[in-house]
Amino acid sequence: MKLFWAILPVIFFTAFDYLFYHWLPTNYVFDKTVMQKLARESIDAHPGNATAIMYDLQSRLTEEYGSDLINDLNFDDWFLNNAGGAMGQMFILHASISEYLIFFGTAVGTEGHTGVHFADDYFTILTEHQYAAFPGQLERTAYGPGDQHHLPKGYRKQYSMPPGGYALELAQGWIPAMLPFGLLDLFSSTLDIMTLYRTVLFTARDMIKNLLHGKF
Ligand SMILES: *[C@@H]1O[C@H](CO)[C@@H](O)[C@H](O)[C@H]1NC(C)=O
Repeated sequence: MKLFWAILPVIFFTAFDYLFYHWLPTNYVFDKTVMQKLARESIDAHPGNATAIMYDLQSRLTEEYGSDLINDLNFDDWFLNNAGGAMGQMFILHASISEYLIFFGTAVGTEGHTGVHFADDYFTILTEHQYAAFPGQLERTAYGPGDQHHLPKGYRKQYSMPPGGYALELAQGWIPAMLPFGLLDLFSSTLDIMTLYRTVLFTARDMIKNLLHGKF
């Protein structure tokens, strides 16, 4: 019986890992290549202006995927995020069980740990840069506007973004498994009740809405 409890996490992990490769992708609607293509079109139309790029990109995404899947851009619904020692702000364009699509960035600059996720992460730079490095990589990799930084499932890096760095971030995988990384600093560090409320509200609201529309 004790052995059963000991191997239970292994059974769970193996099952979710199997599904990650063999079933979860059948629920994906977004495409990393399309993300980069649309982002580049918006960057070319409004180079260096994050606000204008985001309005433009939101409408291109809506044209491509429909307004059921992409939220209207509203700067009142941005919220702060602390995770892995880094701090930024974000807006949720889409959240479901297997995917999220957000604008993420920082007006003042930040640096920290990427987190280790049960998902693939595609971070397409809109303005400024992101810098990142694996352990053992002694020179940082620089990603500029239009570049896409892929952090594969299960990997970790240190990263930084200078002031004014913004990106379109697509995550595909077990999104609920990523949430503790995004939430724990609210309990152990910032104690920012309003941000906790907004993070949970905007995420849960979108996940439930999409689930009711049959988007897992
Ligand atoms: C950036 O774009 C926004 C929205 O289109 C506009 O209001 C603003 O004036 C632009 N900023 C600059 C510096 O051009």
